[in-house]
Amino acid sequence: MQLSLFVTYLLACFLQAQPASAQNNSWPWQTYKSSWAEPPSLNITKSGLTSPGYLFFDQNGEYAHNYSLFIMSDDNELVWQSALGDYSDFRTQTFEGKPVLTFFNGISLPEPYGWGHGIIQVLDDSYTSIYNVSLTAAEENLVPISDIDPTQLVSYIDMHESRITAQDTILVTMYNVTQYDLSSVGGPEDGWVADCLFYELDVKTSEVLFRWSALAHVDEIPISDVQQFYPVADFGRNQSIPYGYFHINSVDKLEDGSYLISSRYYCSIFKISTDGSVEWTLQGQTGGDFKLDAGLSFSYQHDARVRKNEGNILQISIFDNANSEIISGVDQTKGIFMTVNTETMTATLDQEYVNPQDSVYAISQGNVQLLDDGHVVMGYGSTPKIREFSPDGSTVMTAQFGPGDGLLFSYRAYRLPWVGHPTEPPNVFACIDQLSNKTMVYMSWLGATEHEAWKVYTGSSISSLTLAAHVKRAGFETMASIPGHQAPLIRVEAEEMGVTSGVSPIVSPRNSCV
Ligand SMILES: *[C@@H]1O[C@H](CO)[C@@H](O)[C@H](O)[C@H]1NC(C)=O
Ligand SMILES: *[C@@H]1O[C@H](CO)[C@@H](O)[C@H](O)[C@H]1NC(C)=O
Ligand SMILES: *[C@@H]1O[C@H](CO)[C@@H](O)[C@H](O)[C@H]1NC(C)=O
Ligand SMILES: *[C@@H]1O[C@H](CO)[C@@H](O)[C@H](O)[C@H]1NC(C)=O
Ligand SMILES: *[C@@H]1O[C@H](CO)[C@@H](O)[C@H](O)[C@H]1NC(C)=O
Ligand SMILES: *[C@@H]1O[C@H](CO)[C@@H](O)[C@H](O)[C@H]1NC(C)=O
Ligand SMILES: *[C@@H]1O[C@H](CO)[C@@H](O)[C@H](O)[C@H]1NC(C)=O
Repeated sequence: MQLSLFVTYLLACFLQAQPASAQNNSWPWQTYKSSWAEPPSLNITKSGLTSPGYLFFDQNGEYAHNYSLFIMSDDNELVWQSALGDYSDFRTQTFEGKPVLTFFNGISLPEPYGWGHGIIQVLDDSYTSIYNVSLTAAEENLVPISDIDPTQLVSYIDMHESRITAQDTILVTMYNVTQYDLSSVGGPEDGWVADCLFYELDVKTSEVLFRWSALAHVDEIPISDVQQFYPVADFGRNQSIPYGYFHINSVDKLEDGSYLISSRYYCSIFKISTDGSVEWTLQGQTGGDFKLDAGLSFSYQHDARVRKNEGNILQISIFDNANSEIISGVDQTKGIFMTVNTETMTATLDQEYVNPQDSVYAISQGNVQLLDDGHVVMGYGSTPKIREFSPDGSTVMTAQFGPGDGLLFSYRAYRLPWVGHPTEPPNVFACIDQLSNKTMVYMSWLGATEHEAWKVYTGSSISSLTLAAHVKRAGFETMASIPGHQAPLIRVEAEEMGVTSGVSPIVSPRNSCV
């Protein structure tokens, strides 16, 4: 198919309100009696001790069973699944000293666009929505591709970043369609580009605290410096298919107030000073303003993070995709930690995270997380894997949540501690197993992390329910069986440290379990 036709087809699929329904359900998923949730079944391989915490990821792409956010354990047990939606960058962060959940919720345009428009949601530890960070077209004069009706967009924030800073502000990215002369790269003079912007916003009010645009700094970052990606011949002729040359995909903030941003198609990391000027460029092949150490090179990278900053020494981690839609399958994807010395202007490789036994070639997305104990967790973006490395670089865990590459993915993935106290009560489902003459009781509590046991109460009237079973919690859904079928009413209670922490509604068992 011709690229332009393909794009029209993709847009037709993705702009129809809800996320595309599952096209291929071949990857196994889990189901429950007491919950609607249907998380993927993780293929977990362990070869060492993993760090504490749950796995946080989203599910998106053609083969996704349900487009949702997931919190799951290393034992393939669900903790929480969100309602369906088009999400990305799901994680915990700290806001005003408290743990919160943050994620993008909106629409995402597939490659060759690869950006989105939506809000950043902030939930508290009861999964209650407390803030929505948003920017409207009216507020910021932002323009989408012509195929999107701007009046249908509640907010323009892109899905690539939702970082809460040490100052409790939030860093986000934005894509804005605008006209620009592309003759310097062989495109039309009256061309169309997707400008990339990043913003620092107030979390509670979405007030703009800082704004930066790549196009406004084109004198410092010339369009002709862009590396090989989609050919300009196919792009930039109209507002429907702008030339998305910069492709910002991460923003981090340094202690001095400046910013570290990553551009996929420049294969570069830029330091942006507080006045918006480009302080330096670190280019993955040429070095840019730096001399690259012999062992260091990167391209099409994601997730540039400041790990340490002391004087002239800056340690940065990146997810080095080393693959693009144009160049793929040559260099494997790596987690890279490097030291940048801004006095000697050298960049040195500190450590690489790869598994030569299972090389990954991730064309898009991905991230590198450094845990407190030195372990490194990588979400492989377009390849549906999450891998944990010990500090020496050996693999301790691989969790796979889908088949192949680019069919099912999570923009980023994390291992994070989490304590959830949902406002929604536990759920119970009961049925009579005629064969064994037992009442089977299934109980679960979506989002709850702390309960250790369940109590099952049965009886014939609401006021006369008595304890019929007391069982240890066994994963997301726990089952208890009660002899006989003379329990018209059933209620369960979750127990935390011997105290009831949640009470289910009262249900009646179904006549049959099949
Ligand atoms: C925009 O440009 C593409 C590729 O050049 C072309 O296929 C498409 O028909 C154009 N769309 C409009 C609305 O002109
Ligand atoms: C679904 O995916 C599986 C695994 O990748 C593949 O073998 C199968 O042919 C696919 N089915 C369809 C209908 O595309
Ligand atoms: C599960 O993971 C193991 C180890 O990485 C791999 O050998 C196996 O093929 C995987 N299974 C599926 C269904 O992908
Ligand atoms: C998850 O996907 C399946 C298959 O498409 C669908 O039947 C189910 O209703 C979805 N779950 C939710 C909560 O919508
Ligand atoms: C944020 O937006 C979501 C999705 O539209 C909505 O359900 C939620 O109530 C909003 N939360 C707040 C605090 O406005
Ligand atoms: C977005 O692009 C439009 C032109 O399409 C331009 O008028 C507007 O100033 C741009 N917005 C920002 C914030 O740069
Ligand atoms: C089922 O169990 C109940 C209570 O334990 C008992 O009264 C009843 O006789 C049993 N029925 C059968 C068919 O075994």
